[in-house]
Amino acid sequence: MGIKIAVLISGGGTNLQSVIDNVENGVINGEIKLVISNIKNAYGMTRARNHNIPAFFVDRGNRNKRILSLLDENSIDLVILAGYLKILSKDIIKKYDKKIINIHPSLIPKYCGKGYYGEKVHKAVIEKNEKYSGATVHFVDEGVDTGKILIQEKIEVKNSDDYKSLSKKVLEIEHRILVKAVEKISKGESDFESIN
Ligand code: GRF
Repeated sequence: MGIKIAVLISGGGTNLQSVIDNVENGVINGEIKLVISNIKNAYGMTRARNHNIPAFFVDRGNRNKRILSLLDENSIDLVILAGYLKILSKDIIKKYDKKIINIHPSLIPKYCGKGYYGEKVHKAVIEKNEKYSGATVHFVDEGVDTGKILIQEKIEVKNSDDYKSLSKKVLEIEHRILVKAVEKISKGESDFESIN
């Protein structure tokens, strides 16, 4: 049976796709019960439908109430924020404490928090001439990108890199460490070496 997973997206869904692929090949012991997006035509919704996964658009208004009832109705064990760009309400975070993870495209605590998402992160890393960047999987708590870190992987920023080439390299890391984190959680392994 495995764990019941919900994935929240706002965009292209390449992180979602890596989770779909690794559920289907058995690496992740679980099933994606639903995908939720705040953007109606996000390509990630198409990715879900291509794999017969129910996909729900949640419009503004009672968005968080709708999300909470979808999670409850499907008895979700793990919520994955995969490029989801809205803040979850406190009651979702409280009710699903230590059951919500987020993938962030930087080495938290650097380049995270309000306003740091997507290419804005990579542009800042290049601008600051950082020697390293990378990605982080962390539990979601009531702060923004502040929850316990589960996995991080870093990469050298080359002189030849610009924000586009860096974003591509970091996205590959995201896919890898997100799948690793979900695999461990799906197998009941909580031995993430402590990073913070
Ligand atoms: C990417 O910018 C990624 O760094 C971040 O959210 C965005 C969404 O990627 N996690 P995708 O929709 O999973 O392709």
